[in-house]
Formats: sequence, structure tokens, C-alpha cells
Amino acid sequence: MTTKPLRFGLAGTGYWAQATHAPALAATEGVEFAAVWGRNPRAAADLAGAYQVTAHHDVSAFLAGIDAVSFAVPPDVQAAIATQAAREGKHLLLEKPVALTGAAADALVEAVERAGVASVVFFTQRFSPDVRAWLAEVAARGGWTGGVSAWLGSALRESNPFNTPWRRDQGGLWDVGPHLISLLWASLGPVTSVTADAGPADVTHLVLHHRGGATSTITVTLSAAEAAAGVDAYVWGESGRLAAPLGSVDRVAALSTAVAELAANARAGQTRHPCDVWFGRDVGRVLAEAQRQIDARRAACLSA
Ligand SMILES: NC(=O)c1ccc[n+]([C@@H]2O[C@H](COP(=O)([O-])OP(=O)(O)OC[C@H]3O[C@@H](n4cnc5c(N)ncnc54)[C@H](OP(=O)(O)O)[C@@H]3O)[C@@H](O)[C@H]2O)c1
Repeated sequence: MTTKPLRFGLAGTGYWAQATHAPALAATEGVEFAAVWGRNPRAAADLAGAYQVTAHHDVSAFLAGIDAVSFAVPPDVQAAIATQAAREGKHLLLEKPVALTGAAADALVEAVERAGVASVVFFTQRFSPDVRAWLAEVAARGGWTGGVSAWLGSALRESNPFNTPWRRDQGGLWDVGPHLISLLWASLGPVTSVTADAGPADVTHLVLHHRGGATSTITVTLSAAEAAAGVDAYVWGESGRLAAPLGSVDRVAALSTAVAELAANARAGQTRHPCDVWFGRDVGRVLAEAQRQIDARRAACLSA
């Protein structure tokens, strides 16, 4: 096992890369923030300059100088570069959703499997100490009948920094849906089926069945009024309700934890993590099945 710092490169130069990935990489013990890649050379140079690391426009040159990649690019862009990076033996700090199609997610998983690299998907809340304590209490108490959750976001409002092209295309199901699926999966057990329907203005409702018998619901949107915005989740059962502490997650600290756990796994030759690429693919399968049902319902309405 080596104790040399793992050299991380950051793929992406947008708001999320600047506000969360770059500061987390710079702050994490035992890793070296070494490089930035972006399709816009000026943005890459600016972000790299702020941290005195190397800027890249060419993906192969970027990958050649690092041991691990932290991604802050749209999911389809991430899946393609991450697959190349895994084939070149780089460890992966992925964003949710890991990809936008089952084929892209499968190709990524296959590349990770073959290369034996470590992977962690940043389901933000899963790296919060408060949420981890909540999950431990959920597990200790047991006896849960179900879960209820809603993420009413306003990212598609004009001035919001998350009003980005891929979110406008994919909506809340693919952006914030992964966070709630991941949380309910961890608290109530693996998801065995999903039923989905859509409301107006990017509203999506999911009903999940979990192995062991519990059921849960998720409502997501990115176009809620600011006054209605917020996130809530609780599990309920014989011992009452237990609400997840989702209000105060420190995103830079949570990402730093994810980076440190990825680095520890990479050093130990450990490829599995509760939020690894296999889990990311499983969450993606729930999203894809939900999207399929919503699209089929819309097509049936149009042809009626
Ligand atoms: N875990 C969380 O809590 C959380 C929170 C926020 C975001 N995220 C994730 O972070 C990722 C990035 O989100 P975002 O809002 O920052 O996305 P974004 O603004 O759409 O993209 C950010 C970066 O990707 C680049 N980019 C966009 N399209 C590209 C393309 N076709 N080819 C190459 N580069 C491209 C942008 O370059 P330009 O500047 O040149 O356009 C920018 O550098 C997503 O996976 C999102 O889910 C996660």
C-alpha cells in the first residue's frame, strides 16, 4: 500500500466544479489536487490558476498526469470520459446520475470492473455525518413500514446557477431523484420495482417497493416556486416517524469525505463502496424505468 497522495484531476469548470469540487479536492488530506480539464480553455485556465494546478483541454493529456478523476460535467459527458478514464486505470469520483442511458452505465461498470479501479458516486446526503447517524438509527430501530419524501427544487428558475441545459432536458427525476432513491434504498432496502407518473411542470411521482416489503414515495421537481422549495424525507413504522436531517448538509465537507473514502479504497485495492458505480447503475435503472413509464403514458395520452 502506498502513502503517496493520490493525484486528482477535476473534469468540469462550471458552477458546481468551482463551488464544491475544487475546494473539496484542495481541502482533503492525503490527496493532491493536480489538474483541471474543461472544454473551454479559458475557464480551465482560470479555475486551474486559482488553485495553482495544471489546466488541460485534451482529455488524454489530462488523464496521463493523474491517478483519479473528480467529475463535474453533465452525466452523458461524464459517462464517456469516465469509461475512458477507468480503461486507463484511473479511480473515479462520479456525480449522480452516473449516465443517462443503461448502455452507457453498463459500459462504465464494465470498464471499472475490468480495470479494478475504485469508484464512489457523490450521493451528497450519504456523505453527511448527520444523515449517516440517521441511517444508523433507522437500521438499529427497524420495523419500518414505509418512507415519504419530496424534493421541491427551483433550479429551473432563470437566475439559478443550476439552470443548465442537461437539467432542462432531464428534469428533477434525473437531477434530484437519485438523491432520494439512494436515501430510501439505504434506509428501507434495495428497490425492487418502481411505478411512476408525471404531474405538471416537471413534477414526477414515484412509488418504490423495497426488498423486505416496505414501500415509499418520492415527489420531485426543479420548477417549484422559491416559496415552496425544500426537501423532506422520513421513514415511518411501529416506533413512529424518523425524519432525515437533510436541511443542513455541508456540501464541500461531504464531498471531501467522498474523496477521502475513494482515496482510501484506491490505496487499499478495495473496489466496493456502498455508493460505488454498481450502486449508481442500480439507481439509474430505477430512473430509466420511471422515465419509460412516463414517456409511455404521455404517448398514450397523445394518441387517445
Ligand atoms: N451531488 C450533488 O449534490 C450535485 C449538485 C450539483 C450538481 N451535481 C452534478 O454535477 C454535474 C455537473 O452539473 P452542473 O450543473 O455543473 O452542469 P453543467 O453546468 O451543465 O456543466 C458543467 C461543466 O460541464 C461542461 N460541459 C457542458 N456540456 C459539455 C459537453 N457537451 N462537453 C464537455 N463539457 C461540457 C461545462 O462547460 P461550459 O462551461 O463550457 O458549458 C462546465 O464546465 C452533474 O452530474 C450534476 O448532477 C451534483
